[in-house]
Amino acid sequence: MPPLQPEAAPLFHVIDPRVFDRAQLDDLCDLTTRVRLLAKHPEGARFLLGLLPDRRAMLYFVQPSTRTFLSFNNACHVLGIRTSEIRDPSTSSEVKGESFEDSIRTFSSYVDVIVMRTPRSGEAARAADLMNRIPRPVPIINAGSGQDQHPTQALLDIYTLDRSFEEQGGIDGKVIGLMGDLKRGRTVRSLCYLMKNYRNVRLVLIAPEQFALEPDIKAHLRENNIPFVDRARLADVLPDLDAIYVTRMQSEWDTAGETGRVNYADYSITSENLGRMKQTAVIMHPLPRGPEIAPAVDDDPRAVYWRQERNGMWMRVAILLKIFRADGVVRDFDISALN
Ligand code: NCD
Repeated sequence: MPPLQPEAAPLFHVIDPRVFDRAQLDDLCDLTTRVRLLAKHPEGARFLLGLLPDRRAMLYFVQPSTRTFLSFNNACHVLGIRTSEIRDPSTSSEVKGESFEDSIRTFSSYVDVIVMRTPRSGEAARAADLMNRIPRPVPIINAGSGQDQHPTQALLDIYTLDRSFEEQGGIDGKVIGLMGDLKRGRTVRSLCYLMKNYRNVRLVLIAPEQFALEPDIKAHLRENNIPFVDRARLADVLPDLDAIYVTRMQSEWDTAGETGRVNYADYSITSENLGRMKQTAVIMHPLPRGPEIAPAVDDDPRAVYWRQERNGMWMRVAILLKIFRADGVVRDFDISALN
């Protein structure tokens, strides 16, 4: 178990990954590990379940979601938080013309936290702005907003990287490949924002030209002295990478069949090219996957995306603990007494 961090500030909204500093990230990772270990024991699981039974959460997910929805829903249940949900906008009063702001304000009347995913960029930030102006605000957690940000995914990705490199000095100094649709995929945009917290990380951006990382994120990387290079094919860089973060082509945003022009062979992990990867490298993916990772790769010990998926639930438990200031009691719990 890593040493305890000094008490880090509680969270309120979780909207923009740029607000996280290294101490907060280390603290969240430490808390996530504690929760994960506690939950393995019936007594630890019951302790977690008793922490927040008086809290209620709204899950407003009007864009398709499997993992993020289920992991937040189950993270709430791990802590005894009760949940309400809207997943289909046709069942919400927005179809009667109610504004987005009025809908969010309505949710806030009934619950203590709103977790939201919408197809429109910037909407979670709008909800947080609204909360900052009303008398009884509740925290907003951005669970994916259009093409712009997905901060809790980036946090669980950091946790997965941190855990994977536990025996190799952590994330500092690693060469990390980010591959796929870097233009329209929000997970990579959020992950890039967190990279400023790690020393000597180098990024390799592997994308077809039409899906290159947007200039705003590249400007952020330059401002924070994070070296990066653009590469058109995975084959050119595979042996250099300590981690490869694979993403799918986001075809749902196509306007003229852009995805159809991608040569997947240049952006895929297969049983054949696995042999060219470092033995210690890790393969990540936020999922869902398309053809960019062959199912046979799942059996390789370097494939950590299923663990990454499960880490998502534990990281979201940690985030909820921080928001409701219940992290202290978890840190005080003597896990060794359970063994
Ligand atoms: C991602 C998303 O929704 O942005 N999925 C997820 O939350 N794990 C990635 C994707 O859809 O490609």
